[in-house]
Amino acid sequence: MEALVIQGGKRLNGEVAVSGAKNAVLPILAATMVQGGVYRIHNCPEISDVALAGEILESLGCRVERRGKTLRIDSRDATGTAIPAALMGKMRASVLFLGALLSRFGCASMTMPGGCPLGRRPIDLHLDALARLGASVVLWEGEILCDAPQLHGAAIELQFPSVGATENVLLAAMGCQGTVVLQNAAREPEIVDLIGFLQSMGAEISGAGTDTLTIRGGAPLRGTTYTVMPDRIEAATFLCACAGCGGEICLLGADGRHLTPVLDTLAAAGCELCWSQESITLRRLGPLKAVGEIETAPYPGFPTDVQAPMMAALLRARGSTRFSETVFERRFAHVPQLRRFGAEIELVGSAALVRGVSALRPATVTGTDLRAAAAMVVAALQAPGESYVFGINHLIRGYDNLDEKLRSLGAAVGVAAGKNTTGNFPAHGV
Ligand code: EPZ
Repeated sequence: MEALVIQGGKRLNGEVAVSGAKNAVLPILAATMVQGGVYRIHNCPEISDVALAGEILESLGCRVERRGKTLRIDSRDATGTAIPAALMGKMRASVLFLGALLSRFGCASMTMPGGCPLGRRPIDLHLDALARLGASVVLWEGEILCDAPQLHGAAIELQFPSVGATENVLLAAMGCQGTVVLQNAAREPEIVDLIGFLQSMGAEISGAGTDTLTIRGGAPLRGTTYTVMPDRIEAATFLCACAGCGGEICLLGADGRHLTPVLDTLAAAGCELCWSQESITLRRLGPLKAVGEIETAPYPGFPTDVQAPMMAALLRARGSTRFSETVFERRFAHVPQLRRFGAEIELVGSAALVRGVSALRPATVTGTDLRAAAAMVVAALQAPGESYVFGINHLIRGYDNLDEKLRSLGAAVGVAAGKNTTGNFPAHGV
């Protein structure tokens, strides 16, 4: 099994371009099924989740072609309404094809989606909302069978501002006769990007960025060209890495407006920040300070996806920081692994108390999900000596060329091909 080999203890310096947002491009790719057409989507990250979404589109009869960072999708001849279980189970975003298929064909069948192990992650909010739009939903032997001869308008209020459920309602509403009003909708920038894409197709949607969305169903739609927003979680990950290691980095293409709670936290920890809609610069020269409390919350709160990388960044901060995870049931799998670096972290219910230590030691660790693996990298970059991070299959799901970008900032990061007979790693790129 492959691992990243990291010679930690170096500062990070330089600039790197942020890729397109994983959590924006995935619902946008599902949206190309709503209306047969030709779509050109720019700034698509080269990550395995995007490749998987392309396989799902092809399984439904679309033609998908990558030209650099642009994907060309032709969904005019697509007729499929069933997604193969082997593809469904590999990521959470596969469930977003449900709303798109119902909108276009009035039926869909699939198994439960996969995704990072962050608790139960049911899809009840998705299915309840789709039923309110007129879909009949049957769960039978692990299959989700949906039928919607005619989707209709409705007023829906989500019990929780679920990102995925909001996206599924937006996609299904494209095929509704009538108006859909969605209250307690998610407000993440990725939702705003999906709405921008649908509007570029001709959709009539108001309320983007607020918790109330109004969609006039049945508007004539067409193929379009669109550029995906920058990945704010990738940007936050690099900011956490530099905060932990020290140095000065500039993230080109990052939009500081999307990360206010993260930037505020890093500033409180002693980092100097300068940001705009086009870039974010972070400098950390002095010691890091603990920040007391960090509580994750739906946007515009502190993003749950940054909880693990931020924890790794603050392992050597002076004082204590209490992390409360309120979005997912189980999102502290990175804690036992971070302890291997010498971190002092105490788990207390749905919170983790981090006490800063003076130094970290190298370790061999495994990332158990996408952002946990990112946290392992952030910690290993700070630990003088050679660390190994396994679970990089998670990293390639959501980070476009992470090792290459880190090397461009001065990090000593390579990929280990696997243990040889002497038990060492024939690492390269270090
Ligand atoms: C999206 O997941 C993101 N994934 C996640 O990013 C992100 O952490 C999450 O939103 C929150 O911001 C993608 O966009 C592909 P939710 P999603 O529905 O849509 C519960 C990453 O690292 N819930 O807002 O699954 C759920 O269990 C990934 O990039 C229900 O109970 O998030 C969770 O506790 C990880 N029933 C909470 O709501 C439902 O029907 C938030 O889930 C749906 C959700």
